[in-house]
Amino acid sequence: MIQVENLVKHYGSFVALKGISFEVPSGQVLGFLGPNGAGKSTTMKILTGYLYPSSGHVKVDGIDVQEDPLSVRKKVGYLPETNPLYMDMRVDDYLRFVGSIRGLRGKALSQGIQRVVEVCGLARVYRKEIRELSKGYRQRVGLAQAMIHDPEILVLDEPTSGLDPNQIVEIRELIRNLGTDRTVLLSTHYLQEVEATCDRILIIAQGKIVADGTARSLTSTLPPGPLTVEIKGPKDKVETQLKELFPPETGVQVQFLGEDPPGEVCFRVGTSPESDEHVREAIFDLVSRNGWKLLEMHRPPATLEQVFRKLTLDPIEEPLVAKELSMGGSHV
Ligand SMILES: Nc1ncnc2c1ncn2[C@@H]1O[C@H](COP(=O)(O)OP(=O)(O)O)[C@@H](O)[C@H]1O
Ligand SMILES: [Mg+2]
Repeated sequence: MIQVENLVKHYGSFVALKGISFEVPSGQVLGFLGPNGAGKSTTMKILTGYLYPSSGHVKVDGIDVQEDPLSVRKKVGYLPETNPLYMDMRVDDYLRFVGSIRGLRGKALSQGIQRVVEVCGLARVYRKEIRELSKGYRQRVGLAQAMIHDPEILVLDEPTSGLDPNQIVEIRELIRNLGTDRTVLLSTHYLQEVEATCDRILIIAQGKIVADGTARSLTSTLPPGPLTVEIKGPKDKVETQLKELFPPETGVQVQFLGEDPPGEVCFRVGTSPESDEHVREAIFDLVSRNGWKLLEMHRPPATLEQVFRKLTLDPIEEPLVAKELSMGGSHV
């Protein structure tokens, strides 16, 4: 549905986009993740025909944005980062206004308005002036204006930024519903947002794509974190035997966390991908040999936050692309 090919954007001598390429299949909800200044908004503005790239191409449903921006805008609804609204206008007047700019007239216009008012939950504020609305409701009005012409594609630039936690949940839910029958590209720097709403994630840093995949596929690229182990047994004996089992030269780090309640010893074990299976077996054998009880052995999964920090604090040359996993809702 969207094809982005080698986008480069210069602002004067500053290079904001350094060759961005990706494709979005129809129906996908794609999250654009990146720190401030990464180039998310610039990419979205080019995609929606509001800004020309210095080089590169964008095609929306086969139409080149630079050759025919008007046809592309008919297919795309866009909520800019700043969500520019006319504060003096009432919601109903504003929607009628944007609908008419979009070329809707008569019945098509009133049906369009009715549809977005329902979808975006605006009935309660329909006759209010926009200035009277909370930030959450203003964001709904922004979404409604983006959808008034029933576009196949929605481009939403940080749709939940500045909202309170309840409003965030509401807008996310709305976006998830919208995403069931259209293609959505949304940018954010909230990591939970992409995990909660997106089929696929692109991480962008300093004008380049540094990762592409599902949340699951991206987190699975990180080395395993430490194991948390809880053993029911005499504390001193458990400690001594574990230290004997994993002396410093094995490279396996054992960190005791405490005993709570007495007789239940908790510790953390740092493994490498190579030693991991062996370490878990050795712990199990030790427990069983001594007649202790293994209450728990688990590893908290790596988080998207760790992936994000790794990639955006220390950008890598080759993008991390979980190729076989990058499209649709596929999983490991
Ligand atoms: N109109 C502009 N003139 C000059 N520099 C700009 C302009 N717009 C954006 N930039 C710069 O380009 C970079 C990318 O900006 P932007 O696409 O807004 O990033 P993001 O949306 O990821 O925060 C930033 O360093 C920003 O300062
Ligand atoms: Mg931005």
